[in-house]
Amino acid sequence: MVSMNQPMSEPATKHPWGDAETPYLEIGEEAGVRRLCESFYRYIDADAPTVRAMLPREISVSVRKLFMYLSGWFGGPDLYVAEYGHPRMRMRHAPFSIGVVEAEEWLSCMNKAMDECGIDGQLRLFLETQFHQLGHHMRNRD
Ligand code: HEM
Repeated sequence: MVSMNQPMSEPATKHPWGDAETPYLEIGEEAGVRRLCESFYRYIDADAPTVRAMLPREISVSVRKLFMYLSGWFGGPDLYVAEYGHPRMRMRHAPFSIGVVEAEEWLSCMNKAMDECGIDGQLRLFLETQFHQLGHHMRNRD
């Protein structure tokens, strides 16, 4: 039953992403992050011609890097930093021309991947907000 003292919009979970201590635990640890990245790049390959054209032919390189980065960003092992140093994601994206179209293509593939992986509820709301912010932060042209 909803308490009168608690607004409906207040999440019923311990954290904005759910009850687990980190989004990494909530998504299902290594297997969950890996599944999301693989699904994401399948959608990039099939449905995102503008972003796909920027990527190396061998897409597994991109899958691995995103997996390592998200592992740390979600609060799990910081695999990307251990291998490549400080992420500096905006700087690493500087060689690519990223505007609204590219950012929206990227985000739409991530949303489809989250659908495919059954990521819903608080975790979905949380991740969608975070990806949207970071995605648009990567833009480097109008
Ligand atoms: C908004 C639109 C975005 C576009 C068009 C874009 C595009 C690209 C491209 C072309 C690469 C280089 C290919 C590669 O090494 O895989 C790259 C690398 C990468 N992107 Fe993005 N990206 C976007 C947003 C994001 C976001 C939101 C994240 C994280 C949540 C992210 C994480 C990464 C990572 C970890 C790499 C590897 C960097 C490295 O070379 O070490 N990207 N991205």
